[in-house]
Amino acid sequence: MNINEIRQVLSDPTVFQINRLPARSSHHYYPTLTEAKKGGAMPWRKCLNGTWKFHYRENLDNALADSEINGEITVPGHIQMQGYGKPHYTNTMYPWDGHEEIVPPQIPQGFNPVGTYVKEIEIPTSWGSQDVSICFEGVETAINVWLNGQYVGFSEDSFTPTRFDLTPFVNRGNINILKVEVYRYSTASWLEDQDFWRFSGIFRDVYLETKPAVHVQDIHIRTDLFDNYTRAKVTAKYDTNGEVRAKLYDKFGTEIKGDGTTFEVTNPLLWSAEKPNLYTLEIEVLENGEVVEAICQTVGIREFKMLDKVMHINGKRVVFRGVNRHEFSSTNGRAITRADMEWDIKFMKANNINALRTSHYPNNSYIYELCDKYGLYVIDETNMETHGTSTYGSVSPILVPDGKPEWTEAVLDRAKSMLERDKNHPSIVIWSCGNESGNGENLVKMADYFREADNTRIVHYEGVAADRRFPNATDMESRMYAKVKDIHEYFQNEPQKPFVLCEYSHAMANSCGGLDKYVELEDIYPMYQGAFIWDFIDQSIETISPTGEKYFAYGGDFGDRPSDYNFCGNGIVTADRKPTTKAQAVKSAYQPYVIKVDKTGLVKIRSKHLFSNLSEYVINWEVEHNGTTVQSGTLEHELAPLQSSEFKLPVSVPSDDYVITVSVCLKENTWYATAGHEVAFGQHVNEGAAVSNAAAQPFVINDGIENVSIAGDNYKIIFGKKHGRIISLKYGGKEYIKTHWQSLLPSFWRAPVDNDRGARLEKEFAPWKIASLYALYPTWAQPERLSDGLKITFEYELNITPAAKVSTTYFVNSIGEIKVEMNYKGVEGLPNMFRFGMDVSIPAEFDTLTWRGLGPSESYPDREFGLKYGTHTSPVNVDPGYLRPQAYGNHGGVRAAKVTNKNGEGLLIQMDDKPLNVSAIPYTCHEIEEATHPYTLPPVTKTVLSINSEMMGIGGDDSWGARPLDGYELPADKDYTLKFTIKPVI
Ligand code: GAL
Ligand code: MG
Repeated sequence: MNINEIRQVLSDPTVFQINRLPARSSHHYYPTLTEAKKGGAMPWRKCLNGTWKFHYRENLDNALADSEINGEITVPGHIQMQGYGKPHYTNTMYPWDGHEEIVPPQIPQGFNPVGTYVKEIEIPTSWGSQDVSICFEGVETAINVWLNGQYVGFSEDSFTPTRFDLTPFVNRGNINILKVEVYRYSTASWLEDQDFWRFSGIFRDVYLETKPAVHVQDIHIRTDLFDNYTRAKVTAKYDTNGEVRAKLYDKFGTEIKGDGTTFEVTNPLLWSAEKPNLYTLEIEVLENGEVVEAICQTVGIREFKMLDKVMHINGKRVVFRGVNRHEFSSTNGRAITRADMEWDIKFMKANNINALRTSHYPNNSYIYELCDKYGLYVIDETNMETHGTSTYGSVSPILVPDGKPEWTEAVLDRAKSMLERDKNHPSIVIWSCGNESGNGENLVKMADYFREADNTRIVHYEGVAADRRFPNATDMESRMYAKVKDIHEYFQNEPQKPFVLCEYSHAMANSCGGLDKYVELEDIYPMYQGAFIWDFIDQSIETISPTGEKYFAYGGDFGDRPSDYNFCGNGIVTADRKPTTKAQAVKSAYQPYVIKVDKTGLVKIRSKHLFSNLSEYVINWEVEHNGTTVQSGTLEHELAPLQSSEFKLPVSVPSDDYVITVSVCLKENTWYATAGHEVAFGQHVNEGAAVSNAAAQPFVINDGIENVSIAGDNYKIIFGKKHGRIISLKYGGKEYIKTHWQSLLPSFWRAPVDNDRGARLEKEFAPWKIASLYALYPTWAQPERLSDGLKITFEYELNITPAAKVSTTYFVNSIGEIKVEMNYKGVEGLPNMFRFGMDVSIPAEFDTLTWRGLGPSESYPDREFGLKYGTHTSPVNVDPGYLRPQAYGNHGGVRAAKVTNKNGEGLLIQMDDKPLNVSAIPYTCHEIEEATHPYTLPPVTKTVLSINSEMMGIGGDDSWGARPLDGYELPADKDYTLKFTIKPVI
């Protein structure tokens, strides 16, 4: 194939493969049953991963001489992650947008990098004269293959296997030269406009394969259930030229009666995400009575079915507590490892996630094996997204694939390649026609293909919600980012299909507020069948900053343009697989038990499990007082699936403040967590403000011209009457106020979180930033000498229109405790505030925050669920792992908090009549707001202690306009009061 022919193939949407072998099931086959049972590497497979010779050029223009192919590359891996070209991140924009003026199906001409890979290969002699083929499990975006100078074939679809027969071209017993060309763009690129890093290259395993002359090419298992799930029929279809002998075994090794293709199972152990029971089908392939091949195929017996417009697993209404996941790692992009995949599935299981959408392409086969084995419901998604060709709400003339005939075959081919590869995984319960590809006849054809090829699953497609002309492209009503009220509306209007949110709670940086409100819908509408968080893992790339530090790069950081910048980071875990604080919220929202505890130790518990009894877990409980456990115990309790019950803990409740915590925990070690791992919890908190009972002491007041001070044993506090603030705060000889402009002052601002920016709240609320930065100094205040201390009030005129004021009153008692009160009277016509609080910068040596409130991670008023009340500690210099710096580190429900140095000295903040929102981090909100990446933050020279009575929610419904839910904003026409006491910790 010469350059012109290649160009033509790349530019023709009807050519998506040449000589590719038919797709087949992803089963592994071995020479003997013993080997098949052992699993592991197949002797009939020769892995070609490793170092290949490589050459990179920016387009096809110049022919390449073999001698020029002298670079190196690692396979599997992306070209752009290995020093050739650069990674490029865009969301909906095609990466060439603004560089080349093209419409579908044209492809970029100037910049269309070609990676040429060469590998010398030998065919194992043990393979004799058997057929030899090659399999590429994932190559982005289009590939041509030559062996020993002879043309082998062409293929597209980056995320399903490409197989070619090499038999006619191989030199057995000699070195063979394999040459592969990988093209970054072809017409297939129009179908692969997923919101992800745009890479190219061989990014999954590559291997040679052989097979005996008599062979099972494909297996198709189906399971049907009868008689109220007490009887199952397992049917296996083999595509073979031989004779098959097969036996089915349950997980205890008991053989099930059958003839090799049909098996009757009585009282089957059903597969579900909760109870992932598997059977094994041991298959032997015979030639003249001799075993020539053997396969161990796992079988999950389950029924996934629509019953009365509700999706059911084994007769029970299923609710997806799901997550979307891109394959990603901060070091290897989408070329992830088995260890990465295992980490992901363990993390999901340990965090109560029961469903996975493979957004937006078929994943590495191994992930489905893990889902089968450990239990997750999977939506397997076709590799198709044409987002950039569609305009929501109207049908764009360049929309692909729409009903355009030149795309039909390519689109169907993608669906078929996925279905054929993945059809035997019980975990897959839904086929998805791709993502954000408009709607049209081609989508309906794909959906129909799925229905015809496999009626044991249900079809998903979200694009129908935006274009209702072709309702048959989906079997369910799937939406993304619908608000809770829109979902209520759907159910008020004679819903015809069950409802899922294929994406919701956009977990971009500090987000996931209000996630719990969606979960409540599960209990209201039987046809509401759950939702999938967007998304699992940040897509950011470990890089070295200009300042020489390791950091996580987002779009644009490589000079890649156009870009959508930090929109690539929406994970509940960071790209290097560290849980973010959002994961805690997800775990709690998804917990399978709802537990309510009252003040007497009465526990009400409701099970959301479909198949598990509470007696499979242990219940740990404790009564805690002031950080000390005063009583605890462990018990077991019977509770059938979906039932509720109550029991009384044998607690003797202390007469004063106490906290009762009840946890449902794993009884035994599992693959994903150890015994004792908490699955769900409930808490009763009965705790007020601490009462100060310190005795009065002598003190001295010095009222000067500009300053007034009060001093006593071990403390001295000076107020600047002119500046209207504390100018010196000394406890035990330590000065806490750095400069007067870093003193304790009112603030209404926060570094906008990504969701705030998405809703443009920083623009709307902007006057409050000026008001926070440049409050007008009050007129000189008059201190009051009192018999038990000093009182002084400052009135601030805020730099804001219409005019508004705050007053701050300080009362210092005889032992140096400062009671602070800040008041604001509501004013009409002002925008909402981000928060109502006061900040002070104290020396950086005070670097540890300990608080009695919600923890252990940060919390915001709309994301407090899942956090536990108690005593928690965190270093001040904690990195929340958000790609673009933004507000972080707030702790809600705080009764008391102290910031201390390594000697344990510091300040204690105590609530008055209501719990506080407190943070202690090394930066002001304005410094954070200015930073583009963590490495652009200023050096750590202080601790900013922020004490707030109110904090706006962070929102999370989406990051492009959604505000926090009702009740989580701070309208400025309301009055606000902040009250707290500062005490020394000496
Ligand atoms: C959805 C899309 C996802 C992702 C998300 C925003 O519209 O399906 O792929 O782009 O929005 O992060
Ligand atoms: Mg998209």
